[in-house]
Amino acid sequence: MHPVELSSPLLRLDQPRPDDAQRVFEYCQDQVMPQYLARLPWPYRLEDATGFISGYVPSAWANDQECTWAVRGSAAPELLGVISLSVPAGDAAERAGSIGFWLGAAHRGRGMMVEAQRLVLDWGFSTGLCDSVHWECVAGNLASARAARKAGFRYTGQGPAGIAYRDGTHPPSWKGALRAADDRTPPAGWPAEVVGA
Ligand SMILES: CC(C)(COP(=O)(O)OP(=O)(O)OC[C@H]1O[C@@H](n2cnc3c(N)ncnc32)[C@H](O)[C@@H]1OP(=O)(O)O)[C@@H](O)C(=O)NCCC(=O)NCCS
Repeated sequence: MHPVELSSPLLRLDQPRPDDAQRVFEYCQDQVMPQYLARLPWPYRLEDATGFISGYVPSAWANDQECTWAVRGSAAPELLGVISLSVPAGDAAERAGSIGFWLGAAHRGRGMMVEAQRLVLDWGFSTGLCDSVHWECVAGNLASARAARKAGFRYTGQGPAGIAYRDGTHPPSWKGALRAADDRTPPAGWPAEVVGA
């Protein structure tokens, strides 16, 4: 698949570029990143950012494995975060993708990841790439769960993480799902601490 660009009045999602590597490196020094991102190398080095941008991202697009975007504001080129949609195998009966995301600490708290998810989900469903999308986070990651709920994900329960973390464990995780035809209104059924006051 060739990378595609997605945009709204608020955001532009495009390809991470070599000159984004320094930003990715800086954002990924944040201690919550290794806690919540299963596959993030740790300690995170500048070479990890360079390899992600120049190696992993283009090859995962080309191999139809995972679509990854840089999240940017519509008016400025600075990379704010990353969002990705893993692509289900072509012959699966139910084409169930999986979404992942992060923002640099300075850019959180403005609802941008709800909007970025909307763009990616609309694209994944409208192109027929996915029939449903799965989301999960380490249990207790309220920011991720709240962003997923606001994007319309239905809570499907707690269980071991679907993929192994860097220490080989599958920590208890909150899970959610969204189908193409679902109403995106934040659904009932999430843990009370996620819904908040
Ligand atoms: C997950 C993430 C992308 C969400 O970013 P965002 O869209 O800016 O979301 P916000 O920071 O606006 O937070 C969303 C909600 O969580 C709440 N929240 C944020 N940080 C929180 C924290 N540390 N503890 C409790 N609640 C928190 C916010 O108040 C907000 O709630 P509201 O919408 O009801 O007001 C961002 O927090 C992040 O990058 N975290 C680190 C990486 C990560 O965990 N990625 C997800 C892995 S599954």
